[in-house]
Amino acid sequence: MNTDNVIEYRLTDEAWDGYKGFLERLVESKRCRTICEIGGGANPALDQDFVRRHGLDYVIVDISAEELAKAPAGYRTRVLDVSQPLTGEEGTYDLVFSKMLAEHVADAPMFHRNMCRLLRVGGTAFHFFPTLYSPPFVVNILLPERLTYWLLNIIQRGREKSGRNAKFPAYYQWCRGPIAGQFRRLESVGFAVRQYIGFFGHPGYYKRVPPLERIHRAIAAWFQRHPIPLLTSFAYVVLEKR
Ligand SMILES: C[S@@+](CC[C@H](N)C(=O)[O-])C[C@H]1O[C@@H](n2cnc3c(N)ncnc32)[C@H](O)[C@@H]1O
Repeated sequence: MNTDNVIEYRLTDEAWDGYKGFLERLVESKRCRTICEIGGGANPALDQDFVRRHGLDYVIVDISAEELAKAPAGYRTRVLDVSQPLTGEEGTYDLVFSKMLAEHVADAPMFHRNMCRLLRVGGTAFHFFPTLYSPPFVVNILLPERLTYWLLNIIQRGREKSGRNAKFPAYYQWCRGPIAGQFRRLESVGFAVRQYIGFFGHPGYYKRVPPLERIHRAIAAWFQRHPIPLLTSFAYVVLEKR
């Protein structure tokens, strides 16, 4: 498969700043009506106003009732573990999507197979996730959970107190930039890969040391011009159910 016009490289700021717009354009351009967000937890990605204006049937799935309870009132929610085989609702959705969920799922093949099952033929899956082997996520995998939780609260001050930013165990299965293996894996469960954007940089980790942040941004910009897909920090993947 020629992946030249599927793969792009950008900078991480664009991934975060542009996420809402990217998702909303996907909903509008694909004329999606039935939408399932996976791992929406405390922070559903689509505003209720957008949902109402577009007449969407939008449900948020999460493994944790406690996280869902932190979401603003008015969303339709369901407690489900997407690493377990899902039954029912086959072929129901035009769009399934996730943001910062894929790295937390302990069985990636099952997760993506579940997504394929929930979609109608031609339906779209969109996932935004951190990727290996970006240094902060390698550290997150190697160090014990309690230590990384403590470190994260030092690096990103205020996070702990916000109560809407809990830390969840991360496995990073199938969380890579646009390498050939990712295409093979996602195709093996029934998807065609339509867009794969790798994002370089993780400047949020250096906010408290501005000179380091500036150097880091220059390195990330260099990688954007000379990409090494295994060194992206985040990715957007847009898939179509075959
Ligand atoms: C890092 S939070 C992201 C929440 C939200 N998407 C956001 O961007 O703020 C990860 C979410 O995934 C949920 N989650 C983790 N494993 C899951 C699973 N196997 N099935 C469904 N949800 C899961 C967690 O409960 C949590 O709400």
